[in-house]
Amino acid sequence: MQPTPSTDATVHTLIIDTDPGADDVIALLFAMAAPERLRIEALTTVAGNVPLAKTSRNARLACEWAGRPEIPVYAGAERPLRRTPIYAANIHGKEGLTGVDVHEPAGPLADGHAVDYLVRTLRAAPEKSVTLAMLGPQTNLALALEQAPDIVRGLRELVLMAGAHFNGGNITPVAEFNVFADPHAAEAVLLKSGVPITMLPLDVTHKILTSDERVARLRGLGNRAGAIVADILDAYAPQEMKHYDMPGGPVHDATVTAYLLQPSLFKGRRIHVEVDSREGMGFGQTVADWYGSLHRTPNVNWIVDGDAQGFFDLLTEHIARLP
Ligand code: BDR
Ligand code: CA
Repeated sequence: MQPTPSTDATVHTLIIDTDPGADDVIALLFAMAAPERLRIEALTTVAGNVPLAKTSRNARLACEWAGRPEIPVYAGAERPLRRTPIYAANIHGKEGLTGVDVHEPAGPLADGHAVDYLVRTLRAAPEKSVTLAMLGPQTNLALALEQAPDIVRGLRELVLMAGAHFNGGNITPVAEFNVFADPHAAEAVLLKSGVPITMLPLDVTHKILTSDERVARLRGLGNRAGAIVADILDAYAPQEMKHYDMPGGPVHDATVTAYLLQPSLFKGRRIHVEVDSREGMGFGQTVADWYGSLHRTPNVNWIVDGDAQGFFDLLTEHIARLP
């Protein structure tokens, strides 16, 4: 199935599946600041950076900080399909958020499981109408597809922060965290869903980096959201810069929001991608056939490059609209 190409003017009916996570919260604030382009139906949460109770609380906090308490948050999978759960508290802190204090948000969780919500909503949706942004391990969608394969009918496109090829991995030499945290789920989504997929792997997120000037502009906005984003980045970026010897820190998941709003900022290629889900050194690797050596049907629009200044301009412009 060929994707209906999204443009810089596309209005998305959107569900965001997420495991907040420092960069997830920035991606969520960014998306919630664009109601004219991104009609967010719900957030669904998954265990990933930290356990589910904390990712669900942090997603509700993001709604509160964005002044969007009406967006429902459904809690989903508490653990990956088959592998032992792993978390990334070493990067995101034990509360899943660096640089800011967390509290119990006023807004409650929505009733019901995220997987049931996905099944019910995608079944009822007009054909190819819902974009699903995925910012964490892909467990919820894999479970929904297993339960109700017919839900693909309602999906327009999946846009994932996931995977690594040219860059190498960030949790093993070859694996990126979201895929490594649940490779069996990633495999189900990539190989069985048949839905148009765009992936923003480390290949691009490690090219879109913070700088003192970029963070200062966010802080200088003078609103609460600008201070939150700047505080998160000031705490999150230095550890990444040190580990990878990079001049700035990545804002991985926020590239998904930027792609939805302005795909012309990014460059990629439709290629065939598979996931290695066998135990061993390659566990969780995305095997990306960039040169078409395998002559297999492309299943992913694999993004490798992006306009870093364009990304930070778009992010800053949107964060400025929030409380
Ligand atoms: C991804 O892993 C998580 O730690 C981040 O939130 C992002 O989704 C980057 O590899
Ligand atoms: Ca994430």
